[in-house]
Amino acid sequence: MSSQDQASELRRMMSRDQAPDKPKKGARVLAVTSGKGGVGKSNIAVNLSARLAAMGRRVILLDADLGMANADVLVNLTTKANLAHVVAGRKSIDQAICEAPGGFQLVPGASGLAQMANLTEFERARMIDLLRRLDESADLLLVDTGAGLSPNVLSFVLAADEILVVTTPEPTAVTDAYAMVKTISRRKENAQINLLVNMARDRHEARRVYERINAVCRRFLGLSVRDAGHVLYDARVVQAVRQRSPFVLHDPDCAASACVTQLAHKIDRHAAAPRATGFIKRMTNWLAG
Ligand SMILES: Nc1ncnc2c1ncn2[C@@H]1O[C@H](COP(=O)(O)OP(=O)(O)OP(=O)(O)O)[C@@H](O)[C@H]1O
Ligand SMILES: [Mg+2]
Repeated sequence: MSSQDQASELRRMMSRDQAPDKPKKGARVLAVTSGKGGVGKSNIAVNLSARLAAMGRRVILLDADLGMANADVLVNLTTKANLAHVVAGRKSIDQAICEAPGGFQLVPGASGLAQMANLTEFERARMIDLLRRLDESADLLLVDTGAGLSPNVLSFVLAADEILVVTTPEPTAVTDAYAMVKTISRRKENAQINLLVNMARDRHEARRVYERINAVCRRFLGLSVRDAGHVLYDARVVQAVRQRSPFVLHDPDCAASACVTQLAHKIDRHAAAPRATGFIKRMTNWLAG
């Protein structure tokens, strides 16, 4: 396909999304992100996906951490195709969607994939096709992003319907979570930002962390973040990671599992809420530059 054909293909897809006679029936898209790395995003994303699937939702988890993709490791899947293969056109989309333990579907990420901004026209079109396919086949599309404020992370975060910013009570994680909220708020008006405190000692500590961040957001950004609750620090999580098994399956009754169940119910209650228009359209606009 010539680059001119590819560009017109992108425009065709964009205009299809914009057609007023085609109501959007796709997935609700939730981006799981953080300022600081290692705060538990992938564990939250994987376990939340398993819980939501157990509640009867069609859930797809897209591992969009293009630096250190590892959701497949957490569920012990050895996969033949990942995001990079699909984007390069070497594997089909179907080959990259795997059934994960816990009843959700996983699209494994690609460590070291080129920056999204540097994808060729062909690769961008493949990425948009993949996103459209995921959007059509799920009720909920969870996107595990990398940490930090890189353009790759922000493209997924800004395109999502809702954003879950994960932090821990550590001061460095809190500062970086605030930086993430600030960047999102500058780039997207009325963004739905939810804050989750992971590895909390107890709910009081988590609540204090939420209140501290929310107070600064209100004062300096003029917005409130929503309290998504917390996941307790739990040694069973570390054990489950070593066993390469999601902790909600490995240890369904542990403290962290109970917290994730609560979070899943919270998210599920919002499932019917009306959404802003099109994740795919927003991603397409971004990808099309
Ligand atoms: N609730 C918890 N209790 C105890 N340990 C936890 C908890 N959540 C996460 N961890 C530990 O933190 C480690 C990092 O978690 P995870 O890989 O999910 O973080 P991440 O934010 O996805 O990291 P990255 O930024 O590198 O993608 C886990 O391997 C686990 O040992
Ligand atoms: Mg991760």
